[in-house]
Amino acid sequence: MSSISTNTRKRDFLSITDLDPAELRALLTLAGRIKRGEVQPDLSGKTLVLLFEKPSLRTRVSFEVGMQQMGGISLSMGPQEVGLNTREPAADVAQVLSRYAEVIAARVNDHRSLEDLAAHASIPVINALSDLEHPCQTLADLLTILEHKERLNDLTVAYIGDGNNVAASLAFGCALVGAHFHMASPEGYELSEEVAARARSIAVVSGWEVEQVRHPLEAVRGADVVYTDVWTSMGHEAEREARLTAFQGYQVTPEVVELAREGAIFMHDLPAHPGEEIAEGMLEHPQSVVFDQAENRLHTQKAVLAYLLGAVELPR
Ligand code: CP
Ligand code: NVA
Repeated sequence: MSSISTNTRKRDFLSITDLDPAELRALLTLAGRIKRGEVQPDLSGKTLVLLFEKPSLRTRVSFEVGMQQMGGISLSMGPQEVGLNTREPAADVAQVLSRYAEVIAARVNDHRSLEDLAAHASIPVINALSDLEHPCQTLADLLTILEHKERLNDLTVAYIGDGNNVAASLAFGCALVGAHFHMASPEGYELSEEVAARARSIAVVSGWEVEQVRHPLEAVRGADVVYTDVWTSMGHEAEREARLTAFQGYQVTPEVVELAREGAIFMHDLPAHPGEEIAEGMLEHPQSVVFDQAENRLHTQKAVLAYLLGAVELPR
């Protein structure tokens, strides 16, 4: 899909599956070292251009702050400014930006725009969220799980809700590190067959298992992590009413978390909608790690930027 396996000139990060399992684990180790101040990549003289077709808080701020902390600079362009594929084809945008900057991160409506950018840019392109995946989120999620559970394999991640971009990347990520992924969704909102099949094919190697069930309590039983995301993702606002109806019974509440394994953590990529996918107060629940998770966007993206720009060696 991405140019990572086909293009030796540069590495893109469009899917979490662009990393092999060893590389993924090494990146998480690097991110931990960056977080603890043991490694300080130097990106002075490097420029990141962020393109946004949708709103963002965490992704934009963590990328911009991360570049600054490493001595580089960044600039963000909103949807009205660039007009990806409306004002100008993605291919042309990619070639122009390749003359000014060293790396692009883009949040797009259609994943194909990322592929076009990656195919025509001579610099790395990072997926800052698309309709199909949110790999930067998964990196932060996995680092957070590792910090709180001290391992990534031999544990179970229960995802309650929509089989969306966040769920797809998390399923692939779990498959890569050997975590079990149990998902509960209402009919019609499961992982796509393509995503489920791809995740299972990765899991064959890691020994991971995917289980898609209907009832949330079935998914959380024995889980070490209880994860949810919004019922209505950006771009699906017209379906909100139908989704509110379809997802009744899928709210993550303290009672749901109580049914998971003792000491389980509660995760959400944010922004959250209390009263919809989570009960009021869940972000402040004693088992919630959502703000650690948000913080880890910074450290993991610094690791990705430093790695893609060749500023660091991955730890073995
Ligand atoms: N989780 C996440 O990507 O947040 P933003 O949409 O605010 O960037
Ligand atoms: N699934 C959500 C994630 C937001 C970070 C969306 O695409 O809107």
